[in-house]
Amino acid sequence: MEDLTPQRADLEHIEKASRDEIAALQLERMRISLSRAYDNVPHYRKAFESKGVHPDDLVSLEDLAQFPFTTKADLRDNYPFGMFAVPREQVVRVHASSGTTGKPTVVGYTRNDVDTWAQVMARSIRAAGGRRGDKVHVAYGYGLFTGGLGAHYGAEKLGCTVIPVSGGMTERQVQLIRDFEPDVIMVTPSYMLSILDEFRKQGLDPRACSLKVGIFGAEPWTEAMRREIEQTFDMHAVDIYGLSEVMGPGVANECVETKDGLHVWEDHFYPEIIDPVTGEVLPDGEMGELVFTSLTKEAMPVIRYRTRDLTRLLPGTARSLRRMEKVTGRSDDMMIVRGVNVFPTQIEEMILKCQGLAPHYQIELRRADRLDEMTVLVEARPDLPEGPGRDARARELAHHIKSLVGISAEIRVTDSGQVERSAGKARRVIDLRGQA
Ligand code: DLL
Repeated sequence: MEDLTPQRADLEHIEKASRDEIAALQLERMRISLSRAYDNVPHYRKAFESKGVHPDDLVSLEDLAQFPFTTKADLRDNYPFGMFAVPREQVVRVHASSGTTGKPTVVGYTRNDVDTWAQVMARSIRAAGGRRGDKVHVAYGYGLFTGGLGAHYGAEKLGCTVIPVSGGMTERQVQLIRDFEPDVIMVTPSYMLSILDEFRKQGLDPRACSLKVGIFGAEPWTEAMRREIEQTFDMHAVDIYGLSEVMGPGVANECVETKDGLHVWEDHFYPEIIDPVTGEVLPDGEMGELVFTSLTKEAMPVIRYRTRDLTRLLPGTARSLRRMEKVTGRSDDMMIVRGVNVFPTQIEEMILKCQGLAPHYQIELRRADRLDEMTVLVEARPDLPEGPGRDARARELAHHIKSLVGISAEIRVTDSGQVERSAGKARRVIDLRGQA
């Protein structure tokens, strides 16, 4: 793989700034953001008042801990535009995230917000190894989802040639990669694997394609998946994180030269880690739930938004801005199976340890005789035909799950193409336990 480390001179000042300088900027911006929310959004005024706090109470960054959290339910209760802090006419764009139940949550952007977003996305793509002049294939979905348009504006801002493919029509994705020879692809890691299947179906060598970097996010993925994609395509696989409520993609991104967690673009998004049960702020280095306060957003400031994503904060390395560890699960995708906490990514890690199994998988939970049962549906690689070989792989996977997670799982190894595919985020868990 090519060395794509960006030139130090090409980085923005804040990426190299001292911690003191970063903290001073954060404090100044946080004051403005709290006031903007309090002065313009009835929800925040009420929430601050019922906790007995006022924006003027923020004297140091630590004082943020006195302010109330915001949750997805607050956004739903104010559906659709009740969280906006500017007159609707100043909102130049809305996005929405569907979620699994109920109304979507709606987010809005002013002209300045769209510019800030493009800037942090450009910074993210550069961190990932993209450059002015590169061709960028965007296979994140375009529309209400923030992935497609977020990537699009960022790549344009960096000075790239954008190929706005959106998700789906996998044959055409491969055709366009062959014909247009992009340097960078931006897509969910699970959909990248579908694109890989299509390469193979067409008899093409993925290592021979033009791609140098993949910028993968919108769902959890593992180090094992990174190795798999990097080896198969001979390209860098870099993690990008974000969420609609805070901005969209580009809240944090890994650097191609270190791949050691995602630098949070802390000049715009202030991170905290809390104990998900008590709500107490935890020191850097400790695992907990990630919470964000927006520092510059105009249309929809968010104050202490609870992401439900579990991670920890680490000091800066390739950049001065702090890192968050790769998110391996959300508190709400954690499965509790016979009392044991399990994340889909743990299963992914183990599948990739078994030669002959492909990382297309889905986990089904049922309840029989009051006991939880877990079935892992996983595809065989094309070179592992039906028969004793597959049975042995199934036993091996069951053994890994039993010894590392502590639960017995039934493993069903299927032919390629049997596990549900999605052109966006993969659905990893089907929980049928509530049903008779
Ligand atoms: O998924 C924004 C995005 C688009 C990020 C494209 C990266 C690339 P939402 O649909 O609002 O926004 O979903 C946000 O997705 O709270 C995480 O649970 C999960 N997520 C996003 N990026 C990652 C990642 C977009 N790199 C939710 N690793 C977040 C793990 C991720 N989970």
